[in-house]
Amino acid sequence: MTPRIAPSLLAADFSRLGEEVRAIAAAGADWLHLDIMDGHFVPNISFGPAIVKALRPHTAMPFDVHLMIAPADPYIEAFAAAGADIISLHPEAGPHIHRTLQSIKRLGKKCGVVLNPGTPASAIENLMDLVDLILVMTVNPGFGGQSFLDSQLPKIANLRRMIEGTGRDIALEVDGGVTAETAPRCIAAGADTLVAGTAVFGAKHYGDAIAALKGG
Ligand code: DX5
Ligand code: ZN
Repeated sequence: MTPRIAPSLLAADFSRLGEEVRAIAAAGADWLHLDIMDGHFVPNISFGPAIVKALRPHTAMPFDVHLMIAPADPYIEAFAAAGADIISLHPEAGPHIHRTLQSIKRLGKKCGVVLNPGTPASAIENLMDLVDLILVMTVNPGFGGQSFLDSQLPKIANLRRMIEGTGRDIALEVDGGVTAETAPRCIAAGADTLVAGTAVFGAKHYGDAIAALKGG
């Protein structure tokens, strides 16, 4: 199966964001992954809805917004209005994940749940009727360029079985340390969507990097 590739803007040249987004779209990227960090839920600060909105006219690619902020609820509407297509958040970011997912759906957007390396697959067991995407972190969130955690592979396989059990169309995405070497292991475990920051934006040729992640 050829995976979807969602380059993470976090590794792009922040002085030329529009250009970078157009370049990865032309290079065969499927989604744009936008990492939103608040310096509180994770120990790093990235960018907010104003940047998402500014980039929206540059591409028709779906915007895959990964919220690493707490609280997340007060900002959901702003990211939806800015042009997010999928909004994902961590269950640890608020007291009522089910209600937050419902609010994303009410805004007409797809919703996702993100599982940290220390968060078990069972955290989403009672959300399977609602989620459109499950994002498995294969690094601890906060920074690009970290090493892939092999320990998460059985969790990916377990989530694939859980998704099959629902019969619903739920994307299974992996984020952190994805390279041409680790991508095949993610796909073998059952992932269908790969986030890649460094492996795409750190490469000389974006098209070659994306093709390599898709399996050459
Ligand atoms: C980490 C972010 C990732 C990160 C991935 O908190 O969620 O999306 O940018 O970067 P790489 O691909 O460099 O590990
Ligand atoms: Zn991310």
